[in-house]
Amino acid sequence: MDKGMVKLAPSILAADFAHLGKQVGEAEQAGADRIHVDVMDGHFVPNLSMGAPIVQSLRRATRLPLETHLMISDPDFFLEEFVEAGSDSLLIHWEGNNNLHRTVQRVKALGKRVGVVINPATPASVLEEILQDVDQVLVMTVNPGFGAQHFIHTTLPKIRRVREMIDEIKPGCDLEVDGGIDATTAPLTVDAGANVLVAGSAIFGASEGVAAAMKRLGAGANQKKM
Ligand code: DX5
Ligand code: ZN
Repeated sequence: MDKGMVKLAPSILAADFAHLGKQVGEAEQAGADRIHVDVMDGHFVPNLSMGAPIVQSLRRATRLPLETHLMISDPDFFLEEFVEAGSDSLLIHWEGNNNLHRTVQRVKALGKRVGVVINPATPASVLEEILQDVDQVLVMTVNPGFGAQHFIHTTLPKIRRVREMIDEIKPGCDLEVDGGIDATTAPLTVDAGANVLVAGSAIFGASEGVAAAMKRLGAGANQKKM
């Protein structure tokens, strides 16, 4: 188990796009570890969001690593485009990818960090043969496609299993969780073994503001590490 501080990855899906640079700047100031960019194609998930031009603009607005969560069919068609736009890591879903190993190797060949994502109904066991090749695992704690959904509590035992697998097979691999993460659910995921938390509405949708929301989220999460 990683004894370092829990890292926060604010998801811009919940940001005010008219003030994106400013909001990301606030998150950077407040200690964000990376910025999470949710890409949706209306096919892999029933929603549309953003593409590489947003990454390109963000690249000029922040020094933080940009991680790109590809909720799209045929991610292989877009790897180069996102890397050229400035993505530092690409997160690829296990679901629907018949050649996941190839996709993972292609991201590595592009010199970027690579993560594999599993949906709530997908068991931890599918990671067994790919874990050694990745830098992070993202466990979805909601069904992907929308922000501000309710955390699915039955994903907690799976997070524990993934933590055990990482400690055994690939120590140092990040274990990230995404969906419904707030001050109440964050400590549960950290207790189960997560070390990176994606949060959209709990950060950019918080009435107290980005900095205060991140402080609260980080404090609750890190209490579990002590
Ligand atoms: C959901 C996305 C998430 C989303 C999380 O499909 O992958 O990254 O932005 O939003 P919240 O934190 O509001 O659940
Ligand atoms: Zn995401």
